[in-house]
Amino acid sequence: MLRAPHFYPTGSRAGAAICRSKNLVNTDYQVPDLSKQRFARTNLQTVIQRANLLRELLPNVASIAELCSGNCSRQWRLYTQQLGIRQFRCLDTESDIVAMNRRLGIECVCGDALDESILQLFLNFEVLFFGPPLSVGCDGHQSLMFREVTPSYSDFKVLLGELQYSGTLICICPKTTTMGDIAQLYHQIQDCRRDFGLRLIHRTHSTLTGDGEETELRLKYVELWFSDCLEDKWEVRESKSA
Ligand SMILES: C[S@@+](CC[C@H](N)C(=O)[O-])C[C@H]1O[C@@H](n2cnc3c(N)ncnc32)[C@H](O)[C@@H]1O
Repeated sequence: MLRAPHFYPTGSRAGAAICRSKNLVNTDYQVPDLSKQRFARTNLQTVIQRANLLRELLPNVASIAELCSGNCSRQWRLYTQQLGIRQFRCLDTESDIVAMNRRLGIECVCGDALDESILQLFLNFEVLFFGPPLSVGCDGHQSLMFREVTPSYSDFKVLLGELQYSGTLICICPKTTTMGDIAQLYHQIQDCRRDFGLRLIHRTHSTLTGDGEETELRLKYVELWFSDCLEDKWEVRESKSA
């Protein structure tokens, strides 16, 4: 279903707003509480680990996009400066976050990650990171379970089914994600795309918070690297340092 790119009225179920403005209340999706000024942001060690994996698995990658990006300046800097990425684009539904990314010079689309007409803008990217909110209010503290994450990973398979995306899709999942969750998503994907395998289950650990503060070594995310150009290997890796 293609949704028209305009705002929906507050409170409508279809009202997962295409692009939030201060006058819209979005009850369907998790968005950061901007009044708190601090919200979940991927720590630098995890971004470096991702860059190392990209260098190893997809050495010639030239285009990367981040969906549900939040502030993705770390990713943008590292991928463009160290991987030589020629094209980087991100997407967020929160207008203030989009404006912040754009101020830094990052190409950022304002829209809904489940809107097919918006997703069309990302089909040519070789790598897509899908990083939906993994905690309540995107505060990084109250973690959600895999099945509670919205937009959900299984809804997102429209990208592979209807839109026939070709490339590598990295689903960033909460640290509580189980092998059962992974197997279920894998089978849902295989039902619509036999050619899309699971190359890697990357368990990223870090000693830094998103704000750069030191902590004990902690598991941060379970990343699922689905791809139609990499082997269906189900390799499990634990990254513990950058
Ligand atoms: C906490 S951030 C993810 C962190 C980010 N990936 C990073 O590395 O720093 C999650 C973002 O998803 C956005 N978001 C939530 N629902 C969305 C949707 N349906 N479409 C696009 N963005 C969405 C929120 O506004 C929020 O900025």
